[in-house]
Amino acid sequence: MRSIIPDYVTEALAEVAPDISGEPAGYIPELAAADPERLGAVFATVDGEVYGAGDIDTEFTIQSISKPFTYALALADRGFDTVLAKVGVEPSGEAFNEISLEGDTGRPRNPMINAGAITAHSLAGSAELTPAERVERVVGGLSAFAGRRLTMDEVVCASELKYAHRNLAIAHMLRSHNILTEDPRTIVDGYTRQCSVLVTTRDLAVMAATLANRGINPLSGEQVIPEPVVRQVLSVMSTCGMYDAAGDWATQVGIPAKSGVAGGLIGALPGQIGIATFSPRLDRHGNSVRGVSLFERFSADMGLHVMEVPPAARAVVRFDHVVGRAKNAIRVIQLQGGIGFAAAERVVREVMDTAPTEARVALDLTMVYSIDDVARRMLLEVARRLTLDGHEVYLVDPESIIPDPDPGDGGRVTVVGNVEQLELSVSS
Ligand code: DON
Repeated sequence: MRSIIPDYVTEALAEVAPDISGEPAGYIPELAAADPERLGAVFATVDGEVYGAGDIDTEFTIQSISKPFTYALALADRGFDTVLAKVGVEPSGEAFNEISLEGDTGRPRNPMINAGAITAHSLAGSAELTPAERVERVVGGLSAFAGRRLTMDEVVCASELKYAHRNLAIAHMLRSHNILTEDPRTIVDGYTRQCSVLVTTRDLAVMAATLANRGINPLSGEQVIPEPVVRQVLSVMSTCGMYDAAGDWATQVGIPAKSGVAGGLIGALPGQIGIATFSPRLDRHGNSVRGVSLFERFSADMGLHVMEVPPAARAVVRFDHVVGRAKNAIRVIQLQGGIGFAAAERVVREVMDTAPTEARVALDLTMVYSIDDVARRMLLEVARRLTLDGHEVYLVDPESIIPDPDPGDGGRVTVVGNVEQLELSVSS
């Protein structure tokens, strides 16, 4: 059977294809010459499946889509304190190339506008790097996100550098506030090289999927950046990634995203997929017109908005019943699904409300597919309190969803592989 997903993407591309509104970026002559008809879209899942249709292997320059990834490298290389001291996290509501800084601190408002991105470039790698080594750190880092060695389009780079007056103005302003500590021309040169890295729509989807997959590239398996950095980057993408269109995007699409003036657009949906589109005509914010339409459609068709309410946590308790009789009775509470705080709270309430009178109580995790750290600690605390109340507590955990469970402080649990084992021990 053919997968239905590329067919769906092909259909979506056909639907937006007639829209020829907008213009390719005009301020970089080489970009203005790009074929405006190009159109492609790719989905990359967090477990490494890649689906696409249209122009998915055509190379184009990454431009501003490099910004969240370089910000990630700066955070990973220099730490949060150093980076946050120089670049804020507030949406600016301004154009990407606005010449503005925070009044009191002189910091750029966020790392998605050029002022913040130029600063983030200066913070990639250790402070001792030469400008060329810094560019290599950035290109190497972007390559790790993509899972293949990326190259640079020297022609686009030279074309942009010739007209980089605005970015130079921004960099000189940053230097005057000591946000940049090196020669502004050198930093703008490095930042422009970063923007000139060549990617395909397929690469961008894998890069986005790496963010969606807690920083692990789903194809190479490499942990490219630590999880706390991923959280920071996705947060900033969701509030600032679409510049002065960020509010419309947040309400209508609701996926952390970033656009680039060559026509690329990425979205990273945590725990699910990375999406990338490519279509060079831009709207007045500098975002791809057909890319925005595709994302609106994907989000609506597939329920991808991050604020879409997850299934109610109450479904976590599948059964609560008693197996065996009298002194052999075991209370079995069977749980299901993915368990986070709200679901674990529901389990706590179930145990309190029903106050087991049986000597033995089992939490059956056979149908649980994931449990996060706080939920694991809460369930073990339930087990500890049940032990202190005189119960013998079992975890039915054939897949070691909770490895080496230790409720601590007087708590005790016995792990069994299935409920039958418990029933056998009842009848024996
Ligand atoms: O800094 C610039 O002007 C470009 N090289 C990158 C800008 C960009 O992609 C803005 N995003 N839509």
